[in-house]
Amino acid sequence: MTVSVSAPGKAFLIGEYAVLEGAAALVTAVDVRAVAHPPRPGETAPAPSAVVRCSHARVAAYLRARGETTISPPPVINTGSFHHGARKLGLGSSAAVAACVVGFHLAEHGLDPSAVATDALALASAAHAEAQGGGGSGGDVAAAVLGGTLRFDAAGPTSVDVASGLHLAFVDAGAPAVTASFVRAVKEGGRAKPVDYRQALDHLTEAAERFAAAYLTGESAADPVARLAEVRAATALHMEGLSRLQALSGAPIITDSIRTIVDAAEAAGLAAKPSGAGGGDLVMLVGADRAALGRFGENLRREHGLLLLDELCGGAEGLRAEDRVPTNSRLTGFFKLSVEARRAAVCEATGLSPSRLDSLNGGTLDIQRANHMIENVVGTLELPLAIATNFQINGHDVLVPMCVEEASVVAAASNAAKMIRSGGGFVAHSDPPWMIAQVQLTRGDAPSDGATAATSIVGATTELLALADDAHPRLVARGGGAREVQARILAPDMLVVHLVVDCRDAMGANLLNTVAEAVAPRLAALTGWTPGLRILSNLSDRRCAHVSARVPLAALASAAFGGKTVAEGIVSASRFAELDPYRAATHNKGIMNGVDAVVLATGNDWRAMEASAHAYAARDGRYGPLATWRIEPDDACEDGVLVGTMAIPAAVGVVGGATRAHPVCRVALEILGTRSGAELGLVMAATGLATNLAALRALATEGIQRGHMSLHARSVALSAGAEGGEVERLAQALVEDGEIKTERAQTLLEQLRAAQ
Ligand code: MEV
Repeated sequence: MTVSVSAPGKAFLIGEYAVLEGAAALVTAVDVRAVAHPPRPGETAPAPSAVVRCSHARVAAYLRARGETTISPPPVINTGSFHHGARKLGLGSSAAVAACVVGFHLAEHGLDPSAVATDALALASAAHAEAQGGGGSGGDVAAAVLGGTLRFDAAGPTSVDVASGLHLAFVDAGAPAVTASFVRAVKEGGRAKPVDYRQALDHLTEAAERFAAAYLTGESAADPVARLAEVRAATALHMEGLSRLQALSGAPIITDSIRTIVDAAEAAGLAAKPSGAGGGDLVMLVGADRAALGRFGENLRREHGLLLLDELCGGAEGLRAEDRVPTNSRLTGFFKLSVEARRAAVCEATGLSPSRLDSLNGGTLDIQRANHMIENVVGTLELPLAIATNFQINGHDVLVPMCVEEASVVAAASNAAKMIRSGGGFVAHSDPPWMIAQVQLTRGDAPSDGATAATSIVGATTELLALADDAHPRLVARGGGAREVQARILAPDMLVVHLVVDCRDAMGANLLNTVAEAVAPRLAALTGWTPGLRILSNLSDRRCAHVSARVPLAALASAAFGGKTVAEGIVSASRFAELDPYRAATHNKGIMNGVDAVVLATGNDWRAMEASAHAYAARDGRYGPLATWRIEPDDACEDGVLVGTMAIPAAVGVVGGATRAHPVCRVALEILGTRSGAELGLVMAATGLATNLAALRALATEGIQRGHMSLHARSVALSAGAEGGEVERLAQALVEDGEIKTERAQTLLEQLRAAQ
């Protein structure tokens, strides 16, 4: 069933600026998508933007010309995935919007947008140019409609194929794109200094030609290494052209971050250049080895705090129909609904079909399946599965499945997510999915000492990485594999070797253990030392999820406490945890309330998560809080804004373990709609930050018991036998009574029933 239509963003590979003078450029569609969908029941579509209006008008005229009489109003548009953290990346979202509006109305009238791509492209291009006042190259709309990688010039777009063995990646250079003003400045500079301008353009044009010859199939027979050398020469030429444009226009095209990334890439043997007009935003990288790109990204993050955008891939599919709508997590009054009505609301908010949620009826983990999961099975244990609302992470709404036995955790997460949403939602990013496999070595009678053994191991890094990759060829095919080898001397007679492995979307335990066992004999041969334990480390500190939230003080206020007072109380609570491990343990328990509930709901290993989180909390030799809170200055409020930040190891996956084997976990993942372990890690971390905020807010004001008591009263009412509407009435009676105990509840229930 088609319920929405999406179109990808685009990134320039080469030919920027020169394309505006008629040269050929290469653009690739990237897998961030604008989605057009009909308003949900009760939802009013926001006033359409100029691009939406123009696209709607053009496609409506086209459809009328084909005899269609009823054209629905413009759809609702979601461009959440163009955000990276708090910033919208310059990936051509307006072109993607034009494309998906056109595609949406074509699909509504039974036309497959990809089958009428030529018409769709003409309509979207004209609408986009009209809305933007012309001036663009049009490559962005072509990528949004056609997808893949395109060569683009004045004659239009042509689909091209990238040579195998070359890998593309993008780094966030940390500032917004400023294309229009740069193009203006360059044109003005070009008019003032035509000779310099011509020379700069000659560089850029030649760079584009050489890049295309090396990067695309069919144009040269060279192997990836030779192709990469030529691509590097082309990007160097492009950088020279950009420097000249910068000199003649005064526009800061090559920022310090761009220069840092390009220089570091050059030193690492990679090709690099800004993707787009420069000034910040994206830098693209090309390498002949995915592992080298991953290692480069890690060094860049550690040394310069700049992030490789691991999830941003080129060659994305063009305009396409989707079978679900982007999630809406603002489900007002969700907690008041019956279980059936909540399920209906979840289906409506996510586009999942109601029958998918039948697996949540209980008893779906049948005993035979359970018997295959572990040993000595005698039954199954069920826990409540709930949905936390209001979550918005990097511009995306998500409904968060939480499995937990403790009352108030889900309500707390939803309430805190609502406060955080009012400040722009959670901002999050993840480290690459790198995990550590450990091989213990003991000296025994070996002649070489620890330092000599460690040197032999590090000297054999290339061979050891290859050996580790051989143990998991399928992981390498999925873009993962071994990345680093480290040798740590623990004692004169004990060494440990770390093999750092990119696990992609798997939690990774099994594959890491396999790698450790596969390389151990070679380590023994290299050193003469004896292998001992060969197992992953659960201190997954190379694979953290980083999340932060800015909460407006007004959102923290309650009837009895002003927002500033609450915020100051939260900061003081944070400092308490920073100063005292006894408090830090409880503080972190509140975080793990949210984290574990997501880990459990999605079938991940919560013991691993616990071990990892607490080891990480003690990484500096002293146990501390995972999340901290401070008041920071803010333009919108003179009292500032409350800012919470957290990093937490996130060894979770969306494949392997119970994630797919358990029917409820599968549905939980579908409700979430997360495509990767990294995304799941961000949801998990955001949920932990939310439960932490809720706990600190309650503790810093009225105390935790009041809220807990009313929720506790509900579960006491249930255990006393209350049903349906009786539960709420009895819970309220219990709170008013003050004695929240089962026996008292039974008495009150009898009275309630007698009074009816
Ligand atoms: C209860 O499950 C969690 C809290 O104790 C956390 C905290 O004290 O921050 C409320």
